Amino acid sequence: MTLDEIKAAEAKLLLPTYERNPILFVDGEGVHLIDEKGERYLDLLSGIGVNALGYGHPAIEQAIAEQSRKLIHISNLYFHEGQAELALRLTEASGMDRAFFCNSGTEALEAALKLARAHAGLLRSEGKTIGTKFLALEHGFHGRTMGSVATTHKAKYREPFEPVMPGVEFVAFDDVADLKAKFSTDICAVLIEVIQGEGGIRPVSQEFIETARALTRSTGALLILDEIQAGVGRTGKWFAYQHYDVQPDVTTVAKPLAGGLPLGAMLCTEEAARAIHPGMHGTTFGGGPLACAAALAVFRTIEDDHLLEYVTEVGTYFHEQLDGLAKKHPAIVEVRGIGLMLAAELDSAELAKDVLAGMLERRILINRTSETVLRFLPPYILGREHVDTAISALDEVLTERAPQGAGAHTTGGKEVG
Ligand SMILES: Cc1ncc(COP(=O)(O)O)c(C=O)c1O
Repeated sequence: MTLDEIKAAEAKLLLPTYERNPILFVDGEGVHLIDEKGERYLDLLSGIGVNALGYGHPAIEQAIAEQSRKLIHISNLYFHEGQAELALRLTEASGMDRAFFCNSGTEALEAALKLARAHAGLLRSEGKTIGTKFLALEHGFHGRTMGSVATTHKAKYREPFEPVMPGVEFVAFDDVADLKAKFSTDICAVLIEVIQGEGGIRPVSQEFIETARALTRSTGALLILDEIQAGVGRTGKWFAYQHYDVQPDVTTVAKPLAGGLPLGAMLCTEEAARAIHPGMHGTTFGGGPLACAAALAVFRTIEDDHLLEYVTEVGTYFHEQLDGLAKKHPAIVEVRGIGLMLAAELDSAELAKDVLAGMLERRILINRTSETVLRFLPPYILGREHVDTAISALDEVLTERAPQGAGAHTTGGKEVG
């Protein structure tokens, strides 16, 4: 089918959940996607933070090919070789004790919410005073199933589907006083992305995270840190919370975990895990042999190729280049982020849309989030030469499309680490 035929067929046959860009990708290589005409696109979004090792990585291809010749699926009723080894890698990297595998970010988050409720129930049965409510953050994003979406702040994701899970209250972003005011023994868990992804690459402060840790410790409530976008190396550490030197009770990962195959995990402490016993929670597909084999290849490659250090190095370079651009273009109001989780916030949503279109014309894929924020989540194998290409294209596009003139701007912003 041609692109036009596919567009017409999808318009008739698919639930209209996405407004796709009019490009038909048929192949990929390294940090590039290739369309049906053979045009190459520099991908600075990597499938929304998924393709951490880029396209056609030999380690992933080999792991998937070998595993697919053995077993693809067996269900969670039997043992296979992958889950224990992957759980060992994940628990060592995160400092957590146990793992539950699933298929996506929202399912990992759902598992965390259910664990928090079950754990609070266990504490109540042991005589403690603890309720069933959750605190989540304004501008936070945690997924689209009924529990996760209830903890997702933007009304457009929640309101059409109400009633969603009750018992969620939102705390103003990074507002320590608001967190203290809303926390009580009614709360079974506090849910935070230490760097908000969809919310515009916004890191919370050290004080905020430490306050959340201290409050939850004081009652037995769980601190859930959602690392679905920031985790598995994207910020130059395995987990973004490691920049803060804080340890949660529960964390969730997904996107880059299996190099493009669907796989999520909820990781928790031994204490939290006391609340779960066989039959309480589960999944048919989660943690299957194929996805686990791919994830083990991702872990081995990140270690063998020293990609955490590399993400820090190339991410710092990218950040510096964006800072330089911000000095030249007043339309860039702030540059934020760490490692290869970066953003340039512009002074208008219209301009951000326009810049996206200008970059697409130059065959560079980026994304806009929170209306005004240009978001960069490139593969970890991004080279400095790719950063240079992106920066000179951005410079051109901003020169062309941003109204020139005075305007206040800052660079750097709130940083972590
Ligand atoms: C921080 C965070 N949590 C949860 C999710 C939901 O993940 P999924 O789309 O795999 O369900 C996302 C997706 O963007 C995310 O960024």
